[in-house]
Amino acid sequence: MELDIIHLKEIDSTNKYCYKLGKDGKRNLIVVSDVQTGGVGRLERKWYSDFGGLYFSILLDLEEFKKECKNDNIGKLNFLGSLSTYETLNCYLEDFKTVGSIGIKFPNDIIVNVENKDKKLSGILSEININYGFLVLGIGINVNNKINDEIKDIATSLKELEGREFDRFEILNKFIDNFKNNYFLNDDEVLKKYKKHSITIGKYVKVITPKEEIKGTVFDIDYNGIHLATNNGIKHISVGDCVHLRKDKR
Ligand code: BTN
Repeated sequence: MELDIIHLKEIDSTNKYCYKLGKDGKRNLIVVSDVQTGGVGRLERKWYSDFGGLYFSILLDLEEFKKECKNDNIGKLNFLGSLSTYETLNCYLEDFKTVGSIGIKFPNDIIVNVENKDKKLSGILSEININYGFLVLGIGINVNNKINDEIKDIATSLKELEGREFDRFEILNKFIDNFKNNYFLNDDEVLKKYKKHSITIGKYVKVITPKEEIKGTVFDIDYNGIHLATNNGIKHISVGDCVHLRKDKR
């Protein structure tokens, strides 16, 4: 899989741009922008995208993925995104890891634990277009950007954690290497690696779906979603946002 890189100074959203390119028939591209004026997150939230962060989207062809990987499990691409981001950021946090920890919060957030508080370092928004046969995997990483006051209790950056600036393009290249290596692993290997770094398994959580909110303890995650032990028995939820709750919030 070869990926061409397009580097922009400013765009509303690299996901929106890739989505347009996808409809125009383009594939196998990474669009990276220094700034996003309308960065979007999951559940239509805003993604702060000031200069200094790493904001990029990968435009992938679904048929090519199925052929190259002999695999119809498109859901794996999502897991590949978070696993590869986790592995990339994990190598840049040597000093921090002596005082804190890093992991993947279901489905796609990379979270660090600083002084007993979970803070988001990176988020992923994947958007699929089945008719046109493409997937856009959009990744935002707080690198050297200043964290906006509105989210400073729940988000952090590599610079804040390590006390120095980082080369965004070195990080992007490391990510691409990790992504390409993981791309050819089989489903079980990807899931096993993902689960090893999951901070959601074993936690008491609230999963918010378009229809309902369900609380329970997570006992497994797989390509079909999250598996919870609730007061009303075992529940399996395929889509939703997941909030980690403290035990005393039961
Ligand atoms: C989330 O955690 O809610 C997902 C955040 C995804 C942000 C990235 S930044 C690059 C790409 N372009 C966007 O507009 N969003 C994604």
